[in-house]
Amino acid sequence: MNVLVAGGAGYIGSATVEKLVDAGHNVVVVDNLSRGHAAAVSKSARFEVGDISDRAFMDGVLSSAKFDVVMHFCAFSLVGESVTDPMKYYENNVSGGMALVKAMLAHGVKRLIFSSTAAIFGEPAVVPIPETAPKQPTNPYGRSKAAFEQFLQDCDTAYGLKSICLRYFNAAGATKKVGECHNPETHLIPIVLETALGRRKEVQIFGRSYLTQDGTGIRDYIHVSDLAQAHILAAEYLVDSNEGDQFNLGNGHGYSVLEVLEAAEAVTGKKIARKFAPRRAGDPAILVASSDKIREKLEWEPEYPELEDIIQSAWDWMQKNPDGYNKPPAKAKSRKK
Ligand code: UFG
Repeated sequence: MNVLVAGGAGYIGSATVEKLVDAGHNVVVVDNLSRGHAAAVSKSARFEVGDISDRAFMDGVLSSAKFDVVMHFCAFSLVGESVTDPMKYYENNVSGGMALVKAMLAHGVKRLIFSSTAAIFGEPAVVPIPETAPKQPTNPYGRSKAAFEQFLQDCDTAYGLKSICLRYFNAAGATKKVGECHNPETHLIPIVLETALGRRKEVQIFGRSYLTQDGTGIRDYIHVSDLAQAHILAAEYLVDSNEGDQFNLGNGHGYSVLEVLEAAEAVTGKKIARKFAPRRAGDPAILVASSDKIREKLEWEPEYPELEDIIQSAWDWMQKNPDGYNKPPAKAKSRKK
């Protein structure tokens, strides 16, 4: 397949690019490097630095090849930040995505894989969460993604744009080449491991009175490589069938913050200091996926379903790359294959 990966320098995007090129697909990456890292992009992909909202830039990229499918990873994805700065979230996650779709349609590209999120569901009434659960997001991040899912459905009706929405639960872990590196880091597993590495004093546990078995928040952690594989299966399905769909994407097992700490101590062999702190704004108590649909329809099967294996891969990567990716050069340039 000829695949255009928007946001391919980010954490999940770069892991997907790695898997796509390993499987022999032709990949062009676009990324504005606002959050991504040029060093994370596989050298086997063509890399164009630019913004999906820049129509002249996107016209150039979209006319450079005949793309079978576009994967859209460009988004801001921090729940807390979305509560304090919703403008930024709607602008990037909704307007940015609309600009991408507009450019795609102008170039006759009508297949899209969209990075959606468990955050569209809010506090779920049923756990594990099926695709049919009501969408009641509890934060602007989730609402921006739910709005874009709705937009994609309207684009199917009006313009025949076929899309598959993959609703990620909590992406974690690393491949041999790419890992999680946000600045600032807000995600639990890297924070826990940075503490094990001695780079942080302690882990703050956000909330201890949720209605969960130990009072801390429960999430469904899924290995980034398994997420990447789901994108390839979804793209192949979309190209073959030309049918859009939505899939929840997690392991179907939830772990509390305290259980993550326990698993990380087992993996690292280190005692990890922690203290309880107030709940974080916008955080639901429990998010666990039902992955039955994607297992049945796309025959997706996680290769790393165990939490300890996921944490081990992140720990291996962090020990090899204690400073994450080197800072991108002041003026990052596009790179030809
Ligand atoms: N947590 C802590 N301390 C920390 C960081 C996190 O206790 O320092 C807790 C959170 O409160 C939550 C859990 O650990 O209960 C996981 O938090 P993360 O920040 O790692 O991830 P989120 O669940 O907030 O969000 C992630 C993605 C979102 C996505 C969501 C879906 O960032 O994009 O998973 O489940 F929507």
